[in-house]
Amino acid sequence: MSFRAIEWIDDDACLRLIDQKALPTEIRYLDHATPAEIAAAIEDMTVRGAPAIGVAAAFGMVTAALKGLDLAVSDRVLRASRPTAVNLFWALDRMKTVWAAAATAPNMADRLLAEARAIEAEDIEVNRAISRHAMTVVPEGEVTFYHHCNTGSLATVGLGTALGIIRTAHESGRRTFAYLDETRPRLQGSKLSSFELMQYGVPHAIVVDGASAHVMRTRKVDMVVVGCDRVAANGDTANKIGTYNLALAAADNGVPFYVAAPTSTIDLSTQTGDDIEIEERSAAEVVEIGNTRSAPENAPVFNPAFDVTPARLITGIITERGIVRAPFADGLARLLKR
Ligand code: MRU
Repeated sequence: MSFRAIEWIDDDACLRLIDQKALPTEIRYLDHATPAEIAAAIEDMTVRGAPAIGVAAAFGMVTAALKGLDLAVSDRVLRASRPTAVNLFWALDRMKTVWAAAATAPNMADRLLAEARAIEAEDIEVNRAISRHAMTVVPEGEVTFYHHCNTGSLATVGLGTALGIIRTAHESGRRTFAYLDETRPRLQGSKLSSFELMQYGVPHAIVVDGASAHVMRTRKVDMVVVGCDRVAANGDTANKIGTYNLALAAADNGVPFYVAAPTSTIDLSTQTGDDIEIEERSAAEVVEIGNTRSAPENAPVFNPAFDVTPARLITGIITERGIVRAPFADGLARLLKR
């Protein structure tokens, strides 16, 4: 079975999204025809993953032009959907270079559609290139990965970033195994990454987030690969909550820790991880499992959706232009100049 997380439907002038909230038990698609609908889908995580939300927002601007809505207002609505992943702002900035230059042009919707399609097509290429570079550091023969959250085809429009590396290792003939952090509280690891790897036939095991240090100490793990939502100029990296714990466990056990990052996720205007806004989400995500409450009524909750892994814990950042290693400030600046 195959699926597409995001698809622009020309005939219906809408963005079709696989509803990631319903996976893996139900595969259903929802159509979105206005910026407000697409912003809501990003916010409630019908669509999620940094590259995917950037692409969805880009098509959101297309719906705005098709409906004759104010483009500046639509841009603001989409920007307000989630704060941490810079891909959202990067994609909207690209769309803005189109609409701000000629806001009253009669063929604005066509121009915006062309740009959104370009962003979408580039993501597919970028994912392939990340995997190609990654294979230079993935052991030949046999490899065991550790992965957090979901960074595959559901989080992008292509192969995926970190999960794409795992899939590529498997498809290149390496005997591949992956430990997948379940990824509380939204369970992207067990619900989405396992769903994807089952389809590709990649052997794996879901583990609870707290198991990572134990697994690395007692079993063979060759490398951690994770995605990211924003890389600061000094290499500090924001990703799904729990990534920092994983990096600490990897460091203590001598396991290389790689971040897969499209250059669209690198934000040189953010100096360090301390400058990255960390999204906080609802208490319900933490204290409700399905329809069952897992904490006393009104129990206080703190629910940061992301954390920052300091650059010193990162072995390498695998981009579509190559792998950057410490010192990251120099390497990232040089990479983006290319
Ligand atoms: O809250 P989510 O599910 O959007 O968080 C996703 C992640 O943290 C991913 O690791 C990141 O966006 C990279 S996806 C290629």
